[in-house]
Amino acid sequence: MLELIFVFIFQQVFGSTSTRGHYASTVQQTTPHLNISRPETAGVTSDKNSTYYIIDASRKYQICDRLDVIIEARDSKNQLKVNGGDYIRVRIYNNDLKAGASADGEVSYLGDGKYKASFTLRWVGKTFVRASLVHPAEAVNVLRRARDTCPTRCGYNGRFTGTIGNKSVVEDTVCNIITPVPNATVCDLTRHAIAEPWFCTAPTKTNLTCSDFAWTCVNSKYSAALYRSAMLTKDEESLFGRQKQPIPVRGVNFVTVTEPEKNISSPAHCSNERLPPCTVGSHSLSNPMAAGYFFKGHWYSNYCRLRSFVIPSSSLECLTNKTLYFHGDSTTRQYYEYLVMSLKSSLKPNPPTKQSNWKVGPSIAEDKVNNFTVHYRHHGYPIRNNWTDASEVKYIEEALDELQATPDTVYVFTLWAHLTTLNMSFYEHRVRRIKAAVERLHRRSPETLVVIKSANTRSHGSAGSSVMVSDWYARELDMKLREIFKSYDKKIGFIDQWSMVVGFSNVDAIHPGQGIISTGMRTLLSYMCPKE
Ligand SMILES: *[C@@H]1O[C@H](CO)[C@@H](O)[C@H](O)[C@H]1NC(C)=O
Ligand SMILES: *[C@@H]1O[C@H](CO)[C@@H](O)[C@H](O)[C@H]1NC(C)=O
Ligand SMILES: *[C@@H]1O[C@H](CO)[C@@H](O)[C@H](O)[C@H]1NC(C)=O
Ligand SMILES: *[C@@H]1O[C@H](CO)[C@@H](O)[C@H](O)[C@H]1NC(C)=O
Ligand SMILES: *[C@@H]1O[C@H](CO)[C@@H](O)[C@H](O)[C@H]1NC(C)=O
Ligand SMILES: *[C@@H]1O[C@H](CO)[C@@H](O)[C@H](O)[C@H]1NC(C)=O
Ligand SMILES: *[C@@H]1O[C@H](CO)[C@@H](O)[C@H](O)[C@H]1NC(C)=O
Ligand SMILES: *[C@@H]1O[C@H](CO)[C@@H](O)[C@H](O)[C@H]1NC(C)=O
Ligand SMILES: *[C@@H]1O[C@H](CO)[C@@H](O)[C@H](O)[C@H]1NC(C)=O
Ligand SMILES: *[C@@H]1O[C@H](CO)[C@@H](O)[C@H](O)[C@H]1NC(C)=O
Repeated sequence: MLELIFVFIFQQVFGSTSTRGHYASTVQQTTPHLNISRPETAGVTSDKNSTYYIIDASRKYQICDRLDVIIEARDSKNQLKVNGGDYIRVRIYNNDLKAGASADGEVSYLGDGKYKASFTLRWVGKTFVRASLVHPAEAVNVLRRARDTCPTRCGYNGRFTGTIGNKSVVEDTVCNIITPVPNATVCDLTRHAIAEPWFCTAPTKTNLTCSDFAWTCVNSKYSAALYRSAMLTKDEESLFGRQKQPIPVRGVNFVTVTEPEKNISSPAHCSNERLPPCTVGSHSLSNPMAAGYFFKGHWYSNYCRLRSFVIPSSSLECLTNKTLYFHGDSTTRQYYEYLVMSLKSSLKPNPPTKQSNWKVGPSIAEDKVNNFTVHYRHHGYPIRNNWTDASEVKYIEEALDELQATPDTVYVFTLWAHLTTLNMSFYEHRVRRIKAAVERLHRRSPETLVVIKSANTRSHGSAGSSVMVSDWYARELDMKLREIFKSYDKKIGFIDQWSMVVGFSNVDAIHPGQGIISTGMRTLLSYMCPKE
């Protein structure tokens, strides 16, 4: 019965296959990376048969020189893939030096099966290159089509509760950012003041009403049916069998870098000591330069000089008198938890006020000795999590407008992981509203620090998880956020967690390890307290 309902839902939501075919061809024509004037005769891009090479690998390199890497995409028959569209990631590293960095800008398609990645060399010694094929172009096309033709690839439950005739009554229905079941009576739970949509089918088995909506939760069965319907065939599923595999090198995989010649005046970003201290506006969102690099396990920003906070000891003075808000997803909660753990001798989390879900918040920790408070809460629907009290749900726009902001208020937000299952215009709408709310906040309280923490990479194995949470979606959202905020980047702080995790290691995890969170926290503290 349940299965039947889902099949019904999907036919309604997604339409017939011919509609999807139409969307797919429309998408191809508008995609800049695809060269439709040359029909592709080759097969699926193969990580094993593609290669990369360093341009001028034998040349003498100095710190701050540019390193260019070419990746040549081929299929399993070794045919060049002339249409582009592959999702390739390249990083430089030296494991002995605990050094690593992401590329300057995105990997770009040059045509004729060739891609280019560029780096600025940052440390003396060997710099190795690693290229990997995150998804072949054919898989990217499936992901793009799923995003652009399915309005939602994740489903949710709503729980309605009440007391009727002295009896507790409960009824669960399905919810989403669009009407989950066409023609069914729905409860419109949209927050009209901020135009953020949310709909649940109305209770039918009980006498509960829309005003009895009380709890929200992810519905994995409904989600699975949604994302399965985003795939057309078994062949398409097989495109996700190999992900993030290294591409073999042609020639040497490293260059040797020496100190710069002393009498050459290099730009400031080449030597960390000459950079200005990190402060609001330091990180330009229009500059494609990598955010920074790791060297001996320590992160150096390429935009500004970070303060060398040691957490907890030297961070307390900076935190004194401050109120910090972390508003976002579990990757934002990591910062709250990191502070609570590192400063546990005086920073005490309050017991939850309601029957709240600690993963979603709201949570508060107070340090009465050093006089500061730290808050965490989730960014609002969609919430891919366990049962959460719906009365606790607050969108970033709402929180910003309510904020009793002072120069001692610090507001950090993140928005990506729960929105990779939605189309781009939904995300864009949300981010534009958030930007407007940040601008309103700054008109009320110009000195309040607002910091955006970016998305990060994650692991995604199967076709099903890829079509919901692939890094391809996350990066597209991340780039959109940067594009929207770049006209306002002089007024905000930016924690480029994407660049950090790519520089740090080959391992992708939705919850990056302590090395990343402490680096992000040090960046935040530098923005909060730029002066030594
Ligand atoms: C393509 O890769 C496969 C697997 O590594 C290998 O066996 C084959 O020889 C390669 N083809 C060519 C033409 O290099
Ligand atoms: C697209 O194909 C045309 C015709 O072969 C070619 O002239 C052009 O350079 C190609 N563009 C890219 C970006 O590959
Ligand atoms: C509800 O419970 C109260 C006390 O237990 C009782 O007096 C009342 O009659 C009940 N009402 C209904 C509608 O059952
Ligand atoms: C939904 O309602 C419309 C208009 O009343 C009707 O044309 C359509 O067939 C209905 N769909 C289903 C699945 O009942
Ligand atoms: C709903 O209320 C009506 C009128 O009070 C009652 O007849 C009906 O049995 C109720 N239905 C349920 C499912 O409780
Ligand atoms: C300084 O650099 C110039 C070229 O940039 C070079 O001709 C000159 O020999 C250098 N001087 C020293 C002392 O290295
Ligand atoms: C904290 O606020 C108090 C009261 O305004 C002030 O006296 C004190 O200097 C502040 N401490 C810091 C570190 O800013
Ligand atoms: C604690 O910090 C607040 C500012 O956030 C300040 O108004 C207050 O005076 C401080 N309290 C003490 C005891 O310093
Ligand atoms: C979800 O929450 C319920 C209680 O509301 C709990 O019983 C259940 O174990 C939770 N599930 C997970 C996966 O945490
Ligand atoms: C994407 O979502 C927006 C609403 O958020 C909708 O207007 C638009 O039609 C959607 N596009 C597709 C292709 O589903």
